Amino acid sequence: MCGIVGYVGSNEATDFLLEGLRRLEYRGYDSSGVVTIDEGELQITKTAGRVEELSKALKRSPAKGSTGVGHTRWATHGPATNENSHPHLGGDRILALVHNGVIENFREIKQRLVQHGCVFASDTDSEVIAHLLAIELEKKTEDTLNEIDPYAPLVAAVQNTLVQLSGTFGLAIVFRDWPETIVAARLGSPLVIGVGEGEHFIASDGSPLAGHTDKIVYLADHEIAIVTADAIRVVHRDQGDVGHDVKLLEIDSTEVELNEYPHYMLKEIFEQPEAIRNALRGRLDKDEATAVFGGLNLSAQQLQKVKRFVLTACGTSWHASLVGEYMIEALARIPVEVEYASELRYRNPPLDTSTLLFALTQSGETIDTLAALREMKRKGHPTMAICNVVGSTIAREADGGIYLHAGPEVGVASTKAFTAQCVVMSLLALYFGRLHHLSYEDGLRIIADLEALPEKVERALETSNHVRQIASKYANCNNFLYLGRQYNFPAALEGALKLKEISYIHAEGYPAAEMKHGPIALVDEKTPSVFIVPRGAVYQKVIANLEEIKARGGPVIAVVDEGDHQVADLADDIIEVPKVADFLQPIVASIPLQFLAYYIALERGCDVDKPRNLAKSVTVE
Ligand code: G6P
Repeated sequence: MCGIVGYVGSNEATDFLLEGLRRLEYRGYDSSGVVTIDEGELQITKTAGRVEELSKALKRSPAKGSTGVGHTRWATHGPATNENSHPHLGGDRILALVHNGVIENFREIKQRLVQHGCVFASDTDSEVIAHLLAIELEKKTEDTLNEIDPYAPLVAAVQNTLVQLSGTFGLAIVFRDWPETIVAARLGSPLVIGVGEGEHFIASDGSPLAGHTDKIVYLADHEIAIVTADAIRVVHRDQGDVGHDVKLLEIDSTEVELNEYPHYMLKEIFEQPEAIRNALRGRLDKDEATAVFGGLNLSAQQLQKVKRFVLTACGTSWHASLVGEYMIEALARIPVEVEYASELRYRNPPLDTSTLLFALTQSGETIDTLAALREMKRKGHPTMAICNVVGSTIAREADGGIYLHAGPEVGVASTKAFTAQCVVMSLLALYFGRLHHLSYEDGLRIIADLEALPEKVERALETSNHVRQIASKYANCNNFLYLGRQYNFPAALEGALKLKEISYIHAEGYPAAEMKHGPIALVDEKTPSVFIVPRGAVYQKVIANLEEIKARGGPVIAVVDEGDHQVADLADDIIEVPKVADFLQPIVASIPLQFLAYYIALERGCDVDKPRNLAKSVTVE
């Protein structure tokens, strides 16, 4: 992994390739490269480091040609070096390819290929595909030398190669002998084709296409596409030639611009009131005191029979699932289990037919979440996706679902998707609550709380400057604890994750009382504890935990309700946020924690939008 682009048309390919790779930078990567076909020769340029380095290399030595593919690599096999960057060459420079995903049997294949005489130029798993494909192409058996279909040898060679691979792939390939063609293939790693006028674009998600075309074709698993400037032909592994639907791409290129903000993360933090309004829009029904969803694709009778929820996700989306667990159990009284998707996919939990699975995912492409969803589907459970990216793989494969409508999230550290996911969780809790015991009055009260939320989040955003000062005070600390109870325990986990992700500071989130069973040993004057302690059911209990930290000399930063003097007298620093109902506290409290991580990362000189080692969309296991 991580990002793929391709161009075939009449313009210089590198113009789109470089711009597209820049648009994909947000996904996280450590090296990049492009290949074009110039006068019958493959021209490859690859650099470790940023796309800017690649751009400089291309200025020094331009790669001409109107067919080409490019890649940003997030290292999985072998370090981030020029050699390990994609594209990789096959045969006697007869083809070059870029690959997202992981080839699990690459060692066996490589051994075989080395015996066959292939010389490898990289440590990657991807390079085996290039060599295998070159060998298959050279075979050109009698039945594929077919004058009617000039692409028959190409299609046969690609198919014969793909059947030898186990693992996942999104592939874009160019061929010396088919200079006006790109072949794209997919299994488990997303690929889309943008349809232009006399040109086609390939990408691993829709963002490079914005501003070039709004017509998009989503490639499905086991499909290969033969793409020229004027045509797209799609061949399925088992079904032969199949058609393709051209859909409308719903990304506005202005939505992915930074405007006046220095970083996407900061822009997206400030977009949260709007993201929450969008997540709520049209989903509150005051007549019935409930929530409405257009895409669950199950009747009220079927949903009424649901006896148990499994929520599965990775990373920040897993934290939103935990918030959902507290909300759904409290408001709907339905048992909920939250599972790491990477664990669920290989477990065999005893679930009966009344279990409903929700996969929470911003990108809709996280491979573990996709695999968990498929496993649950296979076992006959209805599956729902809670996704931000419209048309993503998980959104398309789930039986039904709910879009966040948070707008594109570019910063690697998720912010607005998290709060929008929590809002959707609260809507689900309201909906299922109203299917069961929740009264009309309670439903109306929850709706009023939700309607007031965007304005409360706007006020929480006013903490920015104050949090910035607190950040500069603690930016040199190397360990942090984040502590909260009940609804605010997942908020503590998410606050700690944000800090870890972008400032590379060790931070642990814990239930505030549980901290006595280990983490308290870490407490000293250089280890700040961030407490989330708004007034609510466990307010005094959390204050007692806070005193335990103070008694051991640990500095305390506390997120409190506006006007809270009791905690102000105890904590070293306080951050006041507007009072909201208990179930919405993790949303409002997360805002200053996002700022804290952001400003500490800035103080430490970290690259906030492109944190080291991380990827926005993790399409490998
Ligand atoms: C990566 C990202 C995280 C994200 C996680 C799950 O690790 O860096 O920000 O929370 O993947 O992504 P998803 O798109 O499934 O929500």
